[in-house]
Amino acid sequence: MPANSSSLSGQGQTVCVTGAGGFIASWIVKLLLEKGYSVKGTVRNPADPKNSHLMELEGAQERLTLCKAHLLDYESLKEAIQGCDGVFHTASPAIEDPEQMMEPAVTGTKNVMMAAAEAKVRRVVITSSIGAVYMDPNRSPDVVVDESCWSDLEYCKNTKNFYCYGKTVAEQGAWDLAKKKGVDLVVVNPVVVIGPLLQPTVNATTIHILKYLNGAVRTYANAVQGYVHVRDVALAHIVVFETPSAAGRYICSERVLHRGEVVEILAKFFPEYPIPTKCSDEKNPRKQPYKFTNQKIKNLADPKNSHLMELEGAQERLTLCKAHLLDYESLKEAIQGCDGVFHTASPAIEDPEKMMEPEVTGTRNVMTAAAEAKVRRVVLTSSTWTPTGALMLSLMNLAGVILSIARAPSQLNEMALQNLYCYGKTVAEQGAWDLAKKKGVDLVVVNPVVVLGPLLQPTVNATTIHILKYLNGAVKTYANAVQGYVHVRDVALAHIVVFETPSASGRYICSERMLHRGEVLEILAKFFPEYPIPTKCSDEKNPRKQPYKFTNQKIKDLGIEFIPVKQCLYETVKSLQENGHLPIPKLAEDSVKTH
Ligand SMILES: NC(=O)c1ccc[n+]([C@@H]2O[C@H](COP(=O)([O-])OP(=O)(O)OC[C@H]3O[C@@H](n4cnc5c(N)ncnc54)[C@H](OP(=O)(O)O)[C@@H]3O)[C@@H](O)[C@H]2O)c1
Repeated sequence: MPANSSSLSGQGQTVCVTGAGGFIASWIVKLLLEKGYSVKGTVRNPADPKNSHLMELEGAQERLTLCKAHLLDYESLKEAIQGCDGVFHTASPAIEDPEQMMEPAVTGTKNVMMAAAEAKVRRVVITSSIGAVYMDPNRSPDVVVDESCWSDLEYCKNTKNFYCYGKTVAEQGAWDLAKKKGVDLVVVNPVVVIGPLLQPTVNATTIHILKYLNGAVRTYANAVQGYVHVRDVALAHIVVFETPSAAGRYICSERVLHRGEVVEILAKFFPEYPIPTKCSDEKNPRKQPYKFTNQKIKNLADPKNSHLMELEGAQERLTLCKAHLLDYESLKEAIQGCDGVFHTASPAIEDPEKMMEPEVTGTRNVMTAAAEAKVRRVVLTSSTWTPTGALMLSLMNLAGVILSIARAPSQLNEMALQNLYCYGKTVAEQGAWDLAKKKGVDLVVVNPVVVLGPLLQPTVNATTIHILKYLNGAVKTYANAVQGYVHVRDVALAHIVVFETPSASGRYICSERMLHRGEVLEILAKFFPEYPIPTKCSDEKNPRKQPYKFTNQKIKDLGIEFIPVKQCLYETVKSLQENGHLPIPKLAEDSVKTH
């Protein structure tokens, strides 16, 4: 998991970890201390040497307090949780004996939730299990196990899987209480957790591995299971605690392996041990791994995309699929089962090595995958502008010039070399049209000019930098150039309108207005006089470039009413300020207060 665990984001916060001396909890305590948190760890007996490793962790002497608590003793939990910002509830018996399992798992979880509600903690993170997710005999092998799956309680009981039964009932109870008491709950569902032990005792899942090394068993089971590293599980707990948008359940699994594969890996690393080579079940076919996704927790660990899961409806209807434009299989998997595709991914850069392949081959891959999935329509985001010269390709009839270059790259002329972005987009779009014809794909293309407007993502994209540089003092003059501008919301809407309108076909230019760069800066200076906006053109010799004529009538005929460019520029700057990309000058803040 790539998330950074070393920043001191926990400074000044106190959290409680239940069952602190256990295998997973010890790792959670270790990472929390490393991040600067103060930790109250509950253990049944602080004096027991099996918990002595905790006080040896880095930062423990200063920021770890061990609290004596039992899951069935509400008062002891209440005392431990009081005054905490968050709770990590990890304590649970990991045994199949229903008598010993059920009460601490179910009533214990209820007690923790009640105490957390009473203490008004910011968030509770519960360590549930894949056992509460995948035990369902009616799930078809093709179904990808994700966070929406729940184990079937009757099946768990009938097959005497009391651990899974207990974890499922406990998790369901926690969700009910979270709703009733208004507790912000997030759940981590790990598979079999293995990895280095911090504690001196051997926990149940480590015994699962140990028995294949110490001669305790002579055969391995015909079974499959998911496996994950204990450090990743601990980190997942902290990431879901720290990420405001985290919600619901998070499956934590690296890979599903047949037990035969586990022993093979062990035998390769440790041939000196009597590792079994025979399966205990030679009659039945080898059990097949179940499909699962760990994408939800992976996405959370990549903050660049975290805004997506915060969009309205995202929790219920947005799935993020890992895919690369040059990895056909990943695109195929994402597109399979879709009614339509909006192909918007593209590197918006001038470096030909980084630009051309994803642009051209990527578009071809998307078109081929869309053809294979028999989608109803593909909407491609092409372009009409170049960063260097505002070429409205289709209108100025330059597409033909560049396309002829595309067919004979050795003849790249000066213009194409200067406009590689434009060159790449043109070759990619032309390729898409060719493939659409060959494979019978219903393709519609949107050709936007420079797209501006409020950012939903936390990073700043290329066209927004185009504006930012005039506000933050990065440039002292402006270019003698003209460009078309359009609001990002209109561009997004245009994509949807052309997708939804059966009669839509061909290309749609998306531009509100053509402006000279000098006009852009005049608008900005009127709205935001507090910034050092250039007033001089870098080219004072040549006459001012004139805007070219264009039409946006075709997309207007489909009902798009463009937001005025002035509003678009205003909203762009406001969004840069609100997202912390553009400091608000002190003077401006003061003047706001005094007016
Ligand atoms: N390991 C895995 O593969 C795995 C996979 C999925 C989910 N989980 C879940 O992860 C959590 C931790 O598992 P683990 O592998 O780290 O197990 P572990 O090492 O056995 O730790 C369990 C902890 O729970 C505490 N505990 C048990 N009953 C208690 C009670 N009645 N009152 C107070 N504390 C109690 C234990 O305290 P004592 O030391 O005092 O006994 C111990 O600290 C459990 O909720 C488990 O269901 C584990």
